[in-house]
Amino acid sequence: MISKCRATPITLMGSSRRKLVVKASSGSGATKVKNSRRYNITLLPGDGIGPEIMRVAVDVLKAVGTLEGIQFEFTEKLVGGAAIDAVGDPLPEDTLKSCKESDSVLLAAIGGYKWDKNPRELKPETGLLKLRAGLGVFANFRPATVFPQLVDASPLKNEIADSVDIMVVRELIGGIYFGTPRGFGTTINGDRTGFNTDIYSAEEVDRIARVAFEMAQKRQRQLCSVDKANVLEVSQLWRERVTAIGAEYPDVNLTHMYVDNAAMQLIRNPKQFDTIVTSNLFGDILSDEASMITGSIGMLPSASISASGPGLYEPIHGSAPDIAGQDKANPLAQVLSVAMLLRFGLGEATAADRIEAAVMDALHRGYRTGDIMSDGKTLVGCCKMGEILLEALGVRATASLKS
Ligand code: IPM
Ligand code: MG
Repeated sequence: MISKCRATPITLMGSSRRKLVVKASSGSGATKVKNSRRYNITLLPGDGIGPEIMRVAVDVLKAVGTLEGIQFEFTEKLVGGAAIDAVGDPLPEDTLKSCKESDSVLLAAIGGYKWDKNPRELKPETGLLKLRAGLGVFANFRPATVFPQLVDASPLKNEIADSVDIMVVRELIGGIYFGTPRGFGTTINGDRTGFNTDIYSAEEVDRIARVAFEMAQKRQRQLCSVDKANVLEVSQLWRERVTAIGAEYPDVNLTHMYVDNAAMQLIRNPKQFDTIVTSNLFGDILSDEASMITGSIGMLPSASISASGPGLYEPIHGSAPDIAGQDKANPLAQVLSVAMLLRFGLGEATAADRIEAAVMDALHRGYRTGDIMSDGKTLVGCCKMGEILLEALGVRATASLKS
């Protein structure tokens, strides 16, 4: 099982708890008929800082379950490097089976230097990609929201970063990540080559476009589709289909932008963006870039949904092997992924609100992990941040950590 933090008694402080209203909060994801309040969650702690941040997230989930009368049954499974070491497969069959049978899947992070030189089939990343494909989670939501308390942590000037609120909708199981043919070859001159195929079918573009338009409808009704249609055929089809689907959503203002320009505009004037829809590779890159506007990639959660079936919830950051096991990791992206799981996957909006409010409360009271630390704030480790969140939820850390 996931190792626990030392259960330190905490003193309740008089906190000015603020109720936070988070935009675009009701998901276009799996809507579940709420006939019971018991859910099976598969936990995939993975590698590096994964187990540390997962522990905090599970404590928070249990605590909010107690407050809301929701029961969770957790099944922990191996994925990534941990699975390679244990059973020689980055996505063991039994892990995928458990994920498919659960109501939602919570993943922490995978990867590490140790497995970097492995052949592709034995890379942790391959396990993650197979998991996404196996669950059919084609739509990945990556919000980049600048928390008012963290605006100073942004590398951009305050007036540029202030109140940025972007939702990147990334296509997750197609494009160049999965296209074939792929591989290595040789030219007629005997020179080595490496190649991949960026390919989308009209149907694949249509389904991600619809999800993105629906997300935009819940936000500011501005959808920017990002492509490279001036060069790539795959992008020409993308643009054509997104435009066609746009006719079904006349209330959403659709624009198109080339990816190089989008990368620049995200830094120059990020406030011009509301919802962005883009392909797998462009979404991978732009969501990392957007995350830095918020100050730290350690703050950003994500939700990946399928047409039916369970969703996959994970922070957008990696496994940070350089700080693993040192209690330095920021658990907030993982905790906010739990909020997304509750909201998008289980339809438990009140529980999600509670978690987001607890995160805001912790930040408001000045607690910071190293990655978001600034002058005059209180530096805490991963475990301590977990305790502060429980305290913000009104639960004593000692009680929750025992169960
Ligand atoms: C992400 C990651 C993954 C991706 C890697 C770990 C395979 O960068 O979730 O953004 O490229 O999708
Ligand atoms: Mg990435």
